Amino acid sequence: MRWRHKDLLDLDNLTVAEIEAILQTASSMKEVLIHPLEKLPTLRGKSIALMFYENSTRTRSSFENAGKILGAQLTNFSVAQSSVHKGESLLDTAKTLQAMKIDLVVIRHSSSGAAEFLAKHLRAGVINGGDGQHAHPTQALLDCFTLTERLGGCRGKKIVIAGDILHSRVARSNALALTKLGAEVVLVGPPTLLPPEMKYLGVKTTYDLDSALPGADAVMALRLQLERQRSGLFPSLREYSRLYGLTRERLARTGKKTYVLHPGPLNRGVEIASDLADSACSLIEEQVTNGVAVRMAVIYLMLGGAGYALDQKCTPA
Ligand code: CP
Repeated sequence: MRWRHKDLLDLDNLTVAEIEAILQTASSMKEVLIHPLEKLPTLRGKSIALMFYENSTRTRSSFENAGKILGAQLTNFSVAQSSVHKGESLLDTAKTLQAMKIDLVVIRHSSSGAAEFLAKHLRAGVINGGDGQHAHPTQALLDCFTLTERLGGCRGKKIVIAGDILHSRVARSNALALTKLGAEVVLVGPPTLLPPEMKYLGVKTTYDLDSALPGADAVMALRLQLERQRSGLFPSLREYSRLYGLTRERLARTGKKTYVLHPGPLNRGVEIASDLADSACSLIEEQVTNGVAVRMAVIYLMLGGAGYALDQKCTPA
């Protein structure tokens, strides 16, 4: 498949075949991760800038690793030490990087739409590493990859996503991707954190986690942004945890073997019990490993792979 998108801003404009091509390419990339060569010459001569205006552990470091493994040149743009603090705008900063012949920009920003804004103005490709409450496409892709590996595919599987849906770019991107792949997605949260319009994504919604769990193949707990409590969106952490916290006892309501996911970072004892996060059914560390493979796949496809064949499946046409 020849990759036709300059940017990856969200998953709404990707076809099922394109999402599946990313997942299939990620499978080959995971083989590379498991049997590492020093570096692949795949993207030699290509240059990637990481522009993270918001904190990140997983996304930033996995993009960095993914780019390095593929042989690309990485520029780690540090907002704290940059001219952003002298008032330089997002666009001028990005254009400065582009003038250094950057091929691809990965951006994380607290404003929804920041990635799209850059994509409109730059010749370089743009990957959205999380923008405000809007989208986090590579997180959803790595979640789909992890579920596909563990469940043998997503079609017909019941996936429950629980927590602060309202503010979650992860929930929104996952709802888009998982429904495209044929999963039954149920979004669960308190009424103040679960907008009814999410139903338009083709998902079910409920305020009652216990009633959503029977038959679930996987449950994804979302990080509760603790500052939300101050805005009065739920009465107390204790109350939230009692109703929406994932525990071993609660997970038993699925009545089957069920995997647990979490995009991180975790609030242990709030949205997920610590022992459950560390249990055999938890895929949290696997998500992180798979994140590198998926980001390698995305970078590889977007930058054309320089004609370097990993195997038949991921050779660009
Ligand atoms: N899941 C996720 O986006 O984690 P980071 O904020 O650490 O990148």
